[in-house]
This record gives sequence, C-alpha cells and structure tokens, in this order.
Amino acid sequence: MRGLRIALTKGRLEKKTIALLQRCGYDCTDLCQPGRRLILPVRNAEIDVVLAKAPDVITYVEHGVVEMGVVGKDTILENGQSFFEVLDLGFGRCRFALAAREDEPFFDTYRRRRVATKYPNVARQYFSKRGLDVEIIRIEGSVELSPLLGLADGIVDIVETGETLRANGLTPIADIAEVSARLIVNVAAMKLHKKAIVHLIDTLQKHREET
Ligand code: PRP
Repeated sequence: MRGLRIALTKGRLEKKTIALLQRCGYDCTDLCQPGRRLILPVRNAEIDVVLAKAPDVITYVEHGVVEMGVVGKDTILENGQSFFEVLDLGFGRCRFALAAREDEPFFDTYRRRRVATKYPNVARQYFSKRGLDVEIIRIEGSVELSPLLGLADGIVDIVETGETLRANGLTPIADIAEVSARLIVNVAAMKLHKKAIVHLIDTLQKHREET
C-alpha cells in the first residue's frame, strides 16, 4: 500500500503550510524545489505531496485520490463539505466580509441590491438567511473594482489587512465568517489509513500556530 497523499493549496497558504511541515520535522526538500514534478515525496516519511489550486484540493480529497488536504475555510464554505474537517491550522487568518462604497449606504435603499463576489454560494447563503433579495454577480478577480465601475453596490470577499478595501474607497459593513487554513480528510481514508492519519493530525496539531 502506498503512503499518504496530501494536497496543499498553492499560493497564499503555501509558504506557511511548508513551514508547518518543516517544524514537524518533515523533509521538504522536494517540496521547496519541485521543478516540473507534480507529486513530491517527503523523503523521511511515507507521505507524498501534491500542490494544487484551492478548489482542486477539495475535489481530490472528496474523490479520495489524496487522503488529506490543506485548504482555506473560504474554499470549504464555497465548495462543499463531504469530507472531515479535522483541524484549524491557525494560519491564513482572514474573514469574509460584506463591503460597500464609503459614500453610498448599502442597506438604506429599497432598490434590489447587486453584490459582486468570487464566492456566490457564501454570498447567497448570507443574504437568504437575512431575507434580503440580492442579485449576485460572479466575478473571477479584483472584485473591489465592481462597485467602483457601478456594476455592484457591494462585494462579498475575504479581507485580511483591509488594505485593498481602503485603497479603493470601500469599507466593511458586515462580517460573514472567520477564515483560516484547515486540514481535511477523505471519509473512507479516515477508516482505511486511521493510524497514519491520526499520527499526522497529532503531529500537525502539536506544531501548529496558536489559534
Ligand atoms: C484577496 C481578496 C482581496 C485581498 C484582501 O485577494 O480577494 O482582494 O486579498 O486582502 P487585504 O485585506 O490584505 O487587502 P488575493 O490577493 O488572494 O488575490 P485573488 O484576487 O487572486 O484572490
């Protein structure tokens, strides 16, 4: 039987995930210098690592082609939940917020509001819980541009430092959810590879950043 496969999210969470693995004593030589390789062995453990885009991490874990994944809670909230979310890793902290232009109140109108977002499911759920009829417009990048162009009255997006909002005359008007990096596990793998998975969870828990 092969060792464990774990999918890590590229980009925003990548450095801190590798730093965590290194603190745990895992040899990340291949992970730090992947070249063109896509499956990277941890040389001193029976673990292979795959670097993937956040939604793909979830797809791989849900299909069981990797046993575990590290992914942001933002992607989990947007893309589904048919796996075990076992650990808050404590880094990648930010929040989902509703933001609008400083000079145009979002709530004080009877007009149907439009909200631009990369996270339509999160946004839809937030507004439907509050009984607000809002048109959701899906945007792939630089969502902050939409209120400036007049495409939307507000945005639902992740806010970390708040710098991007400030630089564009936008202000957060409601918090939606806390976000951080999470460890997720395929449901069947949790039974099949229980010993190895529990060991890895324990090790990561001991070395994670305080939450
Ligand atoms: C995210 C988010 C905001 C920004 C917030 O984008 O969509 O634009 O970060 O960060 P701040 O509060 O520290 O300014 P990201 O940089 O991840 O790029 P993306 O648009 O490719 O998702």
